[in-house]
Amino acid sequence: VATDLERRVDAHPYLGNAFAETHPDRLAALGLLCGLSPAPVGNARILEFGCGDGGNLIPLAYAMPQARFLGVDFSGAAISRGRGVIDCLALANIELRRQDILEFDPAQGPFDYVIAHGVYSWAPENVRERLLALCRQLLAPQGLAFVSYNALPGGFLAGMMREMLLYHVRDIADPAAQVPAARALVDALAQLSPEGTPERSLFGDEARKLQRKPHDLVVHDDLWPVAHREWKWSFAAAARRHGLRVFAEAIWSAVREQGPTPQVRQWLDGLSSDPDMREQYRDFLMLRRLREDILCRDDAPATHAPRPACVERLRLRAAIRATQPEPDLAAGVPVEFKSDAGATLRVDGAMTKAALVELGRAYPRSLGFPELFDRVERAVRAPEGSTAQARRERLAGLLYRFLDHRLVEITTFDSPLLRPAGERPTASRLARLQRERGPTITSLAHVRVDFAGERGAAWLAALDGTRDRAALMRDLATDREELESQLAHFHRIGLLVG
Ligand SMILES: C[S@@+](CC[C@H](N)C(=O)[O-])C[C@H]1O[C@@H](n2cnc3c(N)ncnc32)[C@H](O)[C@@H]1O
Repeated sequence: VATDLERRVDAHPYLGNAFAETHPDRLAALGLLCGLSPAPVGNARILEFGCGDGGNLIPLAYAMPQARFLGVDFSGAAISRGRGVIDCLALANIELRRQDILEFDPAQGPFDYVIAHGVYSWAPENVRERLLALCRQLLAPQGLAFVSYNALPGGFLAGMMREMLLYHVRDIADPAAQVPAARALVDALAQLSPEGTPERSLFGDEARKLQRKPHDLVVHDDLWPVAHREWKWSFAAAARRHGLRVFAEAIWSAVREQGPTPQVRQWLDGLSSDPDMREQYRDFLMLRRLREDILCRDDAPATHAPRPACVERLRLRAAIRATQPEPDLAAGVPVEFKSDAGATLRVDGAMTKAALVELGRAYPRSLGFPELFDRVERAVRAPEGSTAQARRERLAGLLYRFLDHRLVEITTFDSPLLRPAGERPTASRLARLQRERGPTITSLAHVRVDFAGERGAAWLAALDGTRDRAALMRDLATDREELESQLAHFHRIGLLVG
């Protein structure tokens, strides 16, 4: 029997998207850094609850052909849309199943990774409890689960807006028609509240947020009938009741308490050395609205704090280049590096320069720490009297610091599909299919790429593996130089499979 919520999802499609922070690779990397030994993601078993139309799970299944995926959602309409995409891509490693979380059979475990993005806070209490119980029953001993939820105290602000919106649209039966009315209310509040007051600035922020949100997200988030909100401490307590432990957040900056000023750190130091409690107070300070927590079983040997030495167990990736072609690696000679994200840094340490050069050369592929260390050892002369062990630890420490500046990423896995342009350059079949349906496509590293322009779409369509370079230059009306530079760019952003 379809419930009201189920009917609502079926009647108002919610278009799925890739969420980079849910990538099992991210969970695995954080797990390794915190002392766990999660299953290698490349051939793991991965489950997503509330997978919708597979917008998150299908790109993962495409990029990880040896891993096996199961997605469940009670919306028949969403599941059949997803199955259509799976058929187009001829993927054999993923199943999308129409099923209520309440009816999911725990005997189908174990799973190495479980994802529940945008489900916990959007479902009634019995489903929330069941979701956590299932995570415990289904997780492999060192398995990891991603659960996002609406957090407090920021959730009080969101709740205040939501209740005003729901009151305003109470007589409009059709959720689609509620959206413009909701936007109009927030706009009016933003424009009519007295200038220079806190209300004005709050409503202004809310109005901008609501205007930017796609229509389907307003239906499925702001105007959704269920909106549960939790404190970090109460979510951790609920997890504990189910034999689970929150051991990290999915976002690195949050894991590392990065961002707070020295005064905030001092304040936190005075309050507690307990990481859970510090996180709670940070949530107060940030008026936190959303949390994305990673859970493990309570009998798994995770430490709470990440350990720099664990970098040696990971792979590293960096979208970075020296601004000069043959940088001088000698100690004390400054070399400038630029990241793809636009950051510039000057480095003069020999080991650091060598590591960044090697990572930049490998990009978009990652390098395992031992391989990176070997390359650095070959590139720079070791200082007299230092041991290999000391140099290895030093490199791990340096890389760990770069994580904070987001110059280096930790990873465990490169998609085997990721290849530079071959004789007949080919873009990912998934990206080509997605671009036929809308402007947002997903890279092989599970990052969303906005491909709104017509020219980009034409390039992507032409890279279907049927054209050699001469044909591409002719069909895209371009020259050799632009072609090679675009192909290199497409490879760098993870769109080429050969
Ligand atoms: C807010 S949407 C989030 C979808 C997607 N995970 C995302 O983050 O974009 C919630 C999803 O959970 C599904 N859902 C909610 N309650 C469910 C239940 N009891 N059993 C199965 N699916 C459920 C809905 O159909 C919907 O697809």
